[in-house]
Amino acid sequence: MRTDNHAKRILLGISGGIAAYKAPLVVRKLRNLGADVVPVLTQNATRFVTETALQAVADNRPRTDLWDAEAEAAMGHIELARWADAVVIAPATANVIARLAHGIADDLLTTLYLATTAPVFVAPAMNVRMWEHVATQRNLERLRDDGVTVLGPADGEQACGEFGPGRMIEPDEIAEKVTAAISTRVLDGTRVLITAGPTREFLDPVRFISNRSSGRQGFALAEAARDAGAEVTLVAGPVHLSTPTGIERIDVVSAQEMKDAVTQRAPDADIFVSVAAVADYRPHTVHDQKLKKSQQPSTDFRVALKENEDIVGSIAGVEPRPFVVGFAAETENPLEHAREKRRRKCMDAIVVNDVSDAAIGFDSSDNAVTLIHAGGEMGLPKMRKGAIARRLVDEIATLYASAGRGS
Ligand code: C5P
Repeated sequence: MRTDNHAKRILLGISGGIAAYKAPLVVRKLRNLGADVVPVLTQNATRFVTETALQAVADNRPRTDLWDAEAEAAMGHIELARWADAVVIAPATANVIARLAHGIADDLLTTLYLATTAPVFVAPAMNVRMWEHVATQRNLERLRDDGVTVLGPADGEQACGEFGPGRMIEPDEIAEKVTAAISTRVLDGTRVLITAGPTREFLDPVRFISNRSSGRQGFALAEAARDAGAEVTLVAGPVHLSTPTGIERIDVVSAQEMKDAVTQRAPDADIFVSVAAVADYRPHTVHDQKLKKSQQPSTDFRVALKENEDIVGSIAGVEPRPFVVGFAAETENPLEHAREKRRRKCMDAIVVNDVSDAAIGFDSSDNAVTLIHAGGEMGLPKMRKGAIARRLVDEIATLYASAGRGS
């Protein structure tokens, strides 16, 4: 089983249509899904979107010119073409589509197209009449024959005021389609069970104990596992996140409900990733009616708690069992605590993050983690949760395969 544990490298070609104003969003969405993006603008594109905006979101210097000696010295265009895991052209104008279809290499973007062996995606954006023109359709047919994937266009109102096909599909759709298409299918044929989010432990009908988990890291892992070819079941606590396409989602509220859902599905899973921040305790008594202040004569309001069963421990401790990966959010000595936790709960691997740093972890879009397993440790520096998820999935697939459980 091959793993390819670097961020996917994408050349984002931007040509000169009005939809180019959405290019920074395409960059952001691709980065959120873990990609490293170098924008390549045609001269016409620079009239619609600035290099400064693209530099800020891509964190890589945009390229515009085949004759930029400084940029070429840093990474020549042939090297850049080899660097790419994918070339995405969004928006792709009728003009750029025509030049690609005819193999004309008269600027940096079209030269890169000829020089790369990576998969190419184009997201057309143009006026409906230009889209429907026989020449455009002929050029697109050629591109398809040459192995290019055409994304869209969407139908609807256009910048020129007309209606019909020719709108560029939305940036998140472009990013999702491209990422899914180029993901290495390291989990093909596996069934992955993931828990995500917090749990709520009710005290009465309106009050509960919970925690700050947003569920974002678990949902990102579910998407990354799906894109890697796995059949994914996601057991989610109460979170404000929409269900990723192609994933079976089971909503639960309390730790007990989560345990029931996991226990029922674990026998069918090859890999169990326990990302959820499960409440360790629940109120001893759940009151049917809302507790009244007057019912508590003392100023000290005490709630008796009892311990929730450990879900991951109950799955990892009994053979036969799936390959088990836990998560640990720590505020002090994260590595030491996590190493101990992995051994105590019999987990194959554990992913630890330091939640005392407000810039990562709980309720943040970034994370920085260390994956600890019996054979070593791997640190992943601060990056988007989507990027963390993809790197973790690659690593988990490798561990799973070397544990003799994978194909
Ligand atoms: O001990 P701690 O709660 O930090 O362990 C975290 C790991 O254990 C996570 O993988 C979490 O999903 C899991 N866990 C569990 N059941 C609990 C508590 C935690 O599965 N009751």
